[in-house]
Amino acid sequence: MSGIADRDTAPRGRTMIRAAVLDRPGVPTRIEELELDPPGEGEVRVRMLASGVCHSDLHVRDGEWERAGPIVLGHEGAGLVEELGAGVAERHPELRPGTLVALAWLTPCGRCRACLAGDPWLCSASPSYTHRMPNGRAALHRPGVPGEGGDVLTYSAIGTFADRQNVPAVAAIPVDPATPPEVAALIGCCVTTGVGAMTKTADLRPGARVVVIGLGGVGLSCVIGAALANAATIVAVDRIPAKLELARALGATATVLAGDDDTTTLEAIRDLTDGGPDVCAEAIGLPRTIELAIASLPTGGTALLVGMTPFGVRASFEAFPFVDGGRRIVGSNYGSAIPAVDFPRYAALHLAGRLPAERLITRRIGLDELENAFAAMRRGEGVRSVIGFDAGR
Ligand SMILES: NC(=O)c1ccc[n+]([C@@H]2O[C@H](COP(=O)([O-])OP(=O)(O)OC[C@H]3O[C@@H](n4cnc5c(N)ncnc54)[C@H](O)[C@@H]3O)[C@@H](O)[C@H]2O)c1
Ligand SMILES: [Zn+2]
Ligand SMILES: [Zn+2]
Repeated sequence: MSGIADRDTAPRGRTMIRAAVLDRPGVPTRIEELELDPPGEGEVRVRMLASGVCHSDLHVRDGEWERAGPIVLGHEGAGLVEELGAGVAERHPELRPGTLVALAWLTPCGRCRACLAGDPWLCSASPSYTHRMPNGRAALHRPGVPGEGGDVLTYSAIGTFADRQNVPAVAAIPVDPATPPEVAALIGCCVTTGVGAMTKTADLRPGARVVVIGLGGVGLSCVIGAALANAATIVAVDRIPAKLELARALGATATVLAGDDDTTTLEAIRDLTDGGPDVCAEAIGLPRTIELAIASLPTGGTALLVGMTPFGVRASFEAFPFVDGGRRIVGSNYGSAIPAVDFPRYAALHLAGRLPAERLITRRIGLDELENAFAAMRRGEGVRSVIGFDAGR
C-alpha cells in the first residue's frame, strides 16, 4: 500500500505516518504506523527530511530521564512545512507550504518571567516540557485504539523520529533554503547547544583558553564555537582517539586522550592551558567529568556545564578555593538560544563555510536503524547518526 493510499484511508482527515515510538523507558523503540491529526490552531504539519540522534534521546530511551510513554522521540530535526493550521498564515507569514524549517525543541510560552526577560531558553511554562501541542492535546494516535488510551506524545512537542509531524508554529524556524537539511537538523540541537554555549552563554573573548571535555555532537560544536570566537587555545578531551582527530580538524589546538586516571588528565589540561582554562566546558553529563572541569579552573575560571546527567545525580567540589579564587559554575541550556534569531545565523555561518556542521555526521541511516545508532552512541562510536526520510512518502 502506498503512502498516499495510507493517508487516504486514515479517519477524520488524519494522515498516516511512520514513527519510532518508545512505549516506556528502558525498552527498545519500535517503528509504528500512527494517525496524525490535521494541524490545529497555531500548529504546522512538517514533512521531516532529516533528524539527528542526540544523547538526550538516549537518556530518555534508557530511562535515565523518566518520561511518560508512549512517546515519539527525536528533537533534532528539519523538514518542509506541508500544511498550516488555523491562524498561522496571519501570525507567521514567514511559514508557507514548502518552507525549509529547523525545529526548536524549546517553544517559549512568551508569558513567564524568563520569556518576558528575554531569556526564552529558560522558559518555565513551555509546552515542549509536556510533549503535547500548545493546547494540551496529543496530535498522534494509535490506529484502532479509541480515546486517550491511543494517544502518543511527541518529545519536546516536535518528535522528529517521524516522517511527518505537527509542531507548534513558533518551533518551526525558517532557514536559508540552500542549507542542507541534515545541517538544518543539527542546528535544531547540537550545533545551537555547543556553539551557543561558547559564544552566547560563556560569551568568550578573543584569545581565551578553552577546554572541552567530551566530543560528541555537542562537545564538537563547542569546539566549533570556541574557534568561531577566536579562542587562542582549545584543548579537546575524550576517551576515543578518532574524536580527538576530528576535534583538531574543527579547530582544537591540542588534545588529551582521557584514560582511567583523572589526575593524569587534569595535569595534561593544566599543562596545555598554562595553569588552567578561562572556560572548561563539560559536554558529557558525568559527575566525574563535571568534577574534573571544576578542578581544572584557575583563579577566575568558569566551569560551563553543558552535558546533562541522569535525574537526581550530584557532583561535589572543594568549596574554599572555589570561593577564594572567584571561580564560577555556569549551566548552559540550549546554548542560550533565541531560535528565530540564532538558527538563521548558524545556517548563514555554515553556508559561508565557517561552521562545518556536516563534519559531525558520521552515519546516515533509515528510521528503522535507530536502535543501532543508540547502541553505537553508548559505545562512544561515531559522532552524529542522521536519519534521512524518504522524500516521496
Ligand atoms: N545543555 C543542553 O541544552 C544540551 C542539549 C543537548 C544535549 N545535551 C547533553 O549533552 C551531552 C552530550 O550529548 P552528545 O549528543 O554530544 O553525546 P555523545 O554521547 O555523542 O558524546 C559524549 C562524548 O563523551 C565522551 N566520553 C564519555 N565518557 C567520557 C570520559 N569519562 N572522559 C572523556 N570523554 C568521555 C564519549 O566518547 C563521547 O564522545 C548529553 O548529556 C546530552 O543530554 C545538553
Ligand atoms: Zn539534543
Ligand atoms: Zn516562558
